[in-house]
Amino acid sequence: MARHLLTLRDLAAEEITSLLDEAQAVADGDIPALNGAVVATLFYEPSTRTEMSFEQAARRAGAEVLHCDVEHSSVRKGESLVDTVRTFAALGTDVLVLRHPASGAPALAARHVRCAVVNAGDGMHEHPTQGLLDLLTVRQVKGRIAGLRVAIIGDVVHSRVARSAAWGFSRLGASVVLAGPATLLPVAAPVPGVEMTVSLETALSGADVVLALRLQRERQAAGDIPTSTEYTRLYGVSDPVLRRAKPDVVVLHPGPANVGVEITAEVAYGPRSAIIRQVENGVYVRMAVLRWALAPRTVRHGDAATPRRSPQGQHAAPVVG
Ligand code: CP
Repeated sequence: MARHLLTLRDLAAEEITSLLDEAQAVADGDIPALNGAVVATLFYEPSTRTEMSFEQAARRAGAEVLHCDVEHSSVRKGESLVDTVRTFAALGTDVLVLRHPASGAPALAARHVRCAVVNAGDGMHEHPTQGLLDLLTVRQVKGRIAGLRVAIIGDVVHSRVARSAAWGFSRLGASVVLAGPATLLPVAAPVPGVEMTVSLETALSGADVVLALRLQRERQAAGDIPTSTEYTRLYGVSDPVLRRAKPDVVVLHPGPANVGVEITAEVAYGPRSAIIRQVENGVYVRMAVLRWALAPRTVRHGDAATPRRSPQGQHAAPVVG
């Protein structure tokens, strides 16, 4: 049985903590052995960090990478998502890493393939590995998650990053507040127990963590924000507004950042920023997730150095150490 990672909502606190522990072990030099596993990356939306870090994670752990350039694939001839993922499975994929503009696309894919599916960001739904790397980064900086106040600022309604972070931080005992203009907040809190406010000052008050979100122009309707200048004046994360947060506040941004719009250069590149650390942790988290996704099919160390093949010609059990 494959183990899919589709949302953080689906994971219990213990499972999230275990993945963070495993990612930290990777960060400390304990690289998993994914010998013989085939990791396919299928991104229907642009990406730098997520796609590159999954591929880097797979290669560093000794897996094969099957990279799909969607723009030059048969998707452009009209091939459906289901037929595309079934094709990847037939090519021997063990873990399919999928980014798609439609919320729920990875869940749909998971119903049609026997390999593991990892959600690399689906529409406005979730981005679970981003949530994990945000958690890992904060845990490294603060030493804990429980009891922290986490302010998530900006284009909340369009943000899969916000949703996964809200689930992850809440589940591990942080208090989460979502803040932005009313047009960029959901009508109801997407995660039980999280606060919502249009007041940046309220959200930042006493915050231990500030997660600034990218303005998702590609998903916004005309009129969601009057102008980016006005947005910056009211909701931009800057040194002056951060005075309301705790003095040792850590600032996150999933990237790519519109520097000068949702976050100033002084904050993005300043001493409180953990943005580059987030990118580095992305590789560790994704190695841990690849191993986790493959773990149900783990075979003993020392078994076949090359993957066994099923009668259908698909890889059966990769060697996972
Ligand atoms: N954070 C994130 O998903 O970035 P990319 O779009 O560059 O992968």
